[in-house]
Amino acid sequence: MTMEYFEELLKRPSLFKDESKLDINYIPEKLPHRDKELSLLSQLFLGLITNPNSISRKILITGKTGIGKTVTVKLFGELLERASKKRNINIKYVHVNCRKERTSYNVLIRLVQLMNNKFPKRGYSSQDLLDILIEFLQRYNLHILVVLDELSYIINKHEDLIYSLTRINDDTVKGDQRLSIIGIVRDISCLNNLDNSTVSTLQRNILKFKKYSNNQIFDILKYRTDNSLKINIISDKLIRMVSEITYNSGDIRGGLNLLWRSCKIAESKNLKYITAECIRLGNQDLLPFSTLDILEEMNSQKLTFLLAIIKALDNSDKIEISFIETLKRYYILCENVGLNPRSDSQLWHYLQEFKRENIIVTKIVSEKIKGRRAIIKIPDLSLRNLEKNAIEILNSKGIEI
Ligand SMILES: Nc1ncnc2c1ncn2[C@@H]1O[C@H](COP(=O)(O)OP(=O)(O)O)[C@@H](O)[C@H]1O
Ligand SMILES: [Mg+2]
Repeated sequence: MTMEYFEELLKRPSLFKDESKLDINYIPEKLPHRDKELSLLSQLFLGLITNPNSISRKILITGKTGIGKTVTVKLFGELLERASKKRNINIKYVHVNCRKERTSYNVLIRLVQLMNNKFPKRGYSSQDLLDILIEFLQRYNLHILVVLDELSYIINKHEDLIYSLTRINDDTVKGDQRLSIIGIVRDISCLNNLDNSTVSTLQRNILKFKKYSNNQIFDILKYRTDNSLKINIISDKLIRMVSEITYNSGDIRGGLNLLWRSCKIAESKNLKYITAECIRLGNQDLLPFSTLDILEEMNSQKLTFLLAIIKALDNSDKIEISFIETLKRYYILCENVGLNPRSDSQLWHYLQEFKRENIIVTKIVSEKIKGRRAIIKIPDLSLRNLEKNAIEILNSKGIEI
């Protein structure tokens, strides 16, 4: 028996050429089937280069999750910076994820810190920050393209960041235009809370990203595997198989993740290439990225209630359980983790949200006694994986299960 475990493993050739290029955050050099969008963005922003600081653009991008909105804009930002640098024009591109930043104030801090990374996080009003930003932009003769990704997350809080930001162009000396905006949202219904003038500006310039077709997904996944896997590791037929699985949700992240998992499985089985079985195994019990997004957005209380439902279902051996059974489990869980339980009516409200989020299915047995007679099922998702992810997220919020 050899004790050279590491040596044995290291001798094994990897099937990956560059694993990081399959990562969902990697920005590839090319984006198959987003040519049209990149070309349109370039036309829209050309004026920033031909007439520096005399034009400002405000664009809204919409479209479903996982269809390349973020990556297209990131690549575009790089192209814009490159083209302007070549001509000695100062344009800076800033990508802000509003879901992560949470408030308009944090977004403004991010922008100011871009120019002075030691700038303190507290102690200023939003108006102060806007004034500081204007001064910076003038001092460095700079135009910034601010991308507000997942914009709906701050719109809901009735803070009109876009309105404040566009005011920057009104307040500069000589009427210089120093700031452009690209907002990214899933659908435009979230704009209802915005100031009317902001809405009308944005509505004039909407760029809608369409879902990819089955063949387009194939081309994209093929391109991404060519970059990340060694040659002859996966056949076109199997990329087609992954594309078809991905097409259901349309979310390319699912396809990239499945390719990565399948390749890891092939490696662990000591295979020289990926087989259909590797893909089947890789796809088993996977939660869709859209569900993971939803779990991550839940507050601890709602997620704890969901965990109670999952645990109650898992332990009951039945395919469905009543609302009242989940409540019992929920109270025990709350006591164990030290949370104050929410009221039954709040939990009923969460239940309706889980339904809309396609996590559970409910059936009302008797309309007379509202709520208490609801029967709950989780038909489409792997309980084991739901539980695992819910616990991980709760742990990350400091709740030990
Ligand atoms: N045309 C494409 N070519 C290569 N990769 C793509 C393409 N479109 C999307 N992707 C990849 O798919 C994933 C999802 O794209 P993303 O831009 O995050 O979607 P969205 O912002 O619309 O939710 C990312 O990892 C991205 O790199
Ligand atoms: Mg995105």
